[in-house]
Amino acid sequence: MHAQRQGGSTTPETPAHPYRRVTSFRSRRAAITEAQQEVWERLWPELGMLAQPPAELDTADWFGRSAPLVLEIGCGTGTSTLAMAQAEPDIDVIAVEVYRRGLAQLLSAIDREGVANIRLIRGDGVDVLEHCVGPGTLTGVRIFFPDPWPKSRHHKRRLLQPQTVALIADRLRPGGVLHAATDHFGYAEQIAEVGDAEPLLRRADAGEALAISVDRPTTKYETKARHAGSAVTEFLWVRQP
Ligand SMILES: C[S@@+](CC[C@H](N)C(=O)[O-])C[C@H]1O[C@@H](n2cnc3c(N)ncnc32)[C@H](O)[C@@H]1O
Repeated sequence: MHAQRQGGSTTPETPAHPYRRVTSFRSRRAAITEAQQEVWERLWPELGMLAQPPAELDTADWFGRSAPLVLEIGCGTGTSTLAMAQAEPDIDVIAVEVYRRGLAQLLSAIDREGVANIRLIRGDGVDVLEHCVGPGTLTGVRIFFPDPWPKSRHHKRRLLQPQTVALIADRLRPGGVLHAATDHFGYAEQIAEVGDAEPLLRRADAGEALAISVDRPTTKYETKARHAGSAVTEFLWVRQP
């Protein structure tokens, strides 16, 4: 496979979706700074890919080692990605995001901090799950504050639907962890229902030793949500043998 590598200035703002499917993201245009552009041009060819299915990912080649692999879908500006990867240097992290400015911010932070265990994919995380990672290959999947799509006519756009959760469970290795968090009450109810209904997953026990750290920093998004009075619900499921 191939996940296609792509340079800076010609990059469209949101990658074209190769086939029709309801997606969990909106198209956003946002310029990146000159400094971010410089880092993007220098580092993206090595650390970044554009997900264009069908594609197979040789992670040992990409990271230059074999290590447990975590996929984070919708990393935003990468605050959690960076901190969690720094806290666990023996784990490799792939951050997936459609929003180029978020990836550019993360890439600049990786450059500034000299972090070696993060790679980036620009595109739809569902495509990455479907085409880029095989069954039983992931030690963790992180989904922090997925877009809530609060209007009921938009609920079909929510990322955590039964099919996506089944796909995540299939891609996790036994003992692998699905870690999700949301500040939206209605979405929290849906996530709980869908995750608990997935036969390959069980809730983690309180205090259970898990395959990855679940200690995450507070992002700007979360701070705003808390200031607005929203409670945050955290979910931890473990892939059954
Ligand atoms: C509300 S933001 C949260 C960002 C970050 N996780 C945080 O906690 O600050 C949700 C992010 O998910 C991204 N996103 C939504 N659906 C996605 C998908 N299917 N694949 C990749 N990224 C997605 C959006 O572009 C957006 O940046």
